[in-house]
Amino acid sequence: MQIEVISESEEMTQDIAEKYAKSINSPTVILLVGDLGAGKTTFAKGFAKGLGIKELVTSPTFTIMNDYKSGRLNLYHFDMYRLSSKEEAEELGFAEYFDLRTLDGVCLVEWAENVKGLLPALCVEITLKKIDETKRKIGFSVKGWVK
Ligand SMILES: Nc1ncnc2c1ncn2[C@@H]1O[C@H](COP(=O)(O)OP(=O)(O)O)[C@@H](O)[C@H]1O
Ligand SMILES: [Mg+2]
Repeated sequence: MQIEVISESEEMTQDIAEKYAKSINSPTVILLVGDLGAGKTTFAKGFAKGLGIKELVTSPTFTIMNDYKSGRLNLYHFDMYRLSSKEEAEELGFAEYFDLRTLDGVCLVEWAENVKGLLPALCVEITLKKIDETKRKIGFSVKGWVK
């Protein structure tokens, strides 16, 4: 099942993400899928707010992962843009975050398509699509990822 909403602004995307974060209670891996500038990191900022995280959320472009532990659930924000395989992610010690038995919080993953085999069998996929300068189509679906 796919749920779609139209966001009319950056603030609205953050608001949608904030509300969604409030509904999460168990370890979850969430894929943020969309082109550069679609709003993945913007979504992550609102999501962190919804977990009660007060720190400034910035893109983990260079660190690959930023963690935030001051909220209701731990947040692990990944940007896999610079990685090109599951093995590379494993070498960096990321496997435990993608095992729902050991994950102690929520993973938000940008460019997850670069590390496909690493992902658990069940993920939430959020797609962001640019309609025009300020409008985005945001889709929510549960995904059984084939390894
Ligand atoms: N409705 C919207 N939702 C999210 N971002 C928007 C929206 N409208 C405009 N923007 C702009 O698009 C850009 C999205 O950037 P960012 O979140 O870093 O994208 P990504 O992480 O997907 O590369 C920001 O400059 C933001 O201000
Ligand atoms: Mg980004």
